[in-house]
Amino acid sequence: MASPVLLAGVAGVLMMLLCVPLGLHKVQEGCVGVYWIGGALLSSTTYPGYHTMIPFITKHRSVQISVQTDVVRDIPCGTSGGVLIEFEKVEVVNRLNPGSVIGLVKNYTVDYDRLWIYDKVHHEINQLCSTHTLQEIYIEIFEQIDELLLERLQREWNIWAPGLELIAIRVTKPRIPKLIGKHFDAMEAEVAQLTSVSAEQQIVLQEAETTRRKAVIEAQKILEVAKINCQRNIDEQKSKLQVSAIENEMLVARAVSNADAVFYAAKQEAEANKELLTTDFLELERVRSLSKNAKFIVGSQIPNSLFVGDSAGKIGKLLK
Ligand SMILES: *[C@@H]1O[C@H](CO)[C@@H](O)[C@H](O)[C@H]1NC(C)=O
Repeated sequence: MASPVLLAGVAGVLMMLLCVPLGLHKVQEGCVGVYWIGGALLSSTTYPGYHTMIPFITKHRSVQISVQTDVVRDIPCGTSGGVLIEFEKVEVVNRLNPGSVIGLVKNYTVDYDRLWIYDKVHHEINQLCSTHTLQEIYIEIFEQIDELLLERLQREWNIWAPGLELIAIRVTKPRIPKLIGKHFDAMEAEVAQLTSVSAEQQIVLQEAETTRRKAVIEAQKILEVAKINCQRNIDEQKSKLQVSAIENEMLVARAVSNADAVFYAAKQEAEANKELLTTDFLELERVRSLSKNAKFIVGSQIPNSLFVGDSAGKIGKLLK
């Protein structure tokens, strides 16, 4: 009785015998199969899955057409100043257009990536280094290196290997000599300190400015109040002046009217008197005054003469 192991082994051998003449092979997902007969590339490709071919006569390889990342490591380069630095890692994300596979393999074999990715990245990095100083490569243009490489590589590929598509490039910071690295670190620290100091100064300045503005506003407020008070005083004085001026005018007016009244009365009286100054009236007055000023002298001794004046100072008559 045959054991199951032996049975399986026999089945396996039979399968091998069947498969080898068929040249059964497998193409992985994300790849296409390319074939050579007698060293000549066939123009047809196969898609993922199992395929057959003539064993020993047909040669077969798979070429990846899905997105892949090629990593180029340890790229040495000399800067324009003569310092030797080394880029540890450059990642190139790329994809091959299925329609260009045959043309590319025909031109550059299946190891096209050696030529167009590894060697090309070395070359471009070296070119970049030789036209820039260490300061530029390490600090100033470092963030642009990805873009620069991408641009240059894609331009070359478009001319020489159309169908090869560049998606992204990532460049790590290069390794630089230890001594120079220390120098850069110190510089960086210095710059950071300076920045923080200037920020502090800025804050202090701003605070001072705020205080100054506050003071100015306060002073202006006080000034405004003083102005208003002053104006009010002036107005008060003015109105007082006006009031007293009016009072004065009133007084003057009253005095004038009083004087007028007096004058009028006097005038009236004068006129009345003038009318009285007739001869008759004067005669009457004279007589009246004589009688008023008559002196009666009683006794035995009558003076011979007597001088009399009337009340108006007129010269009287000499009595005998
Ligand atoms: C292959 O080389 C020929 C001739 O230089 C060129 O015209 C063609 O574009 C190349 N094809 C690919 C896919 O690189």
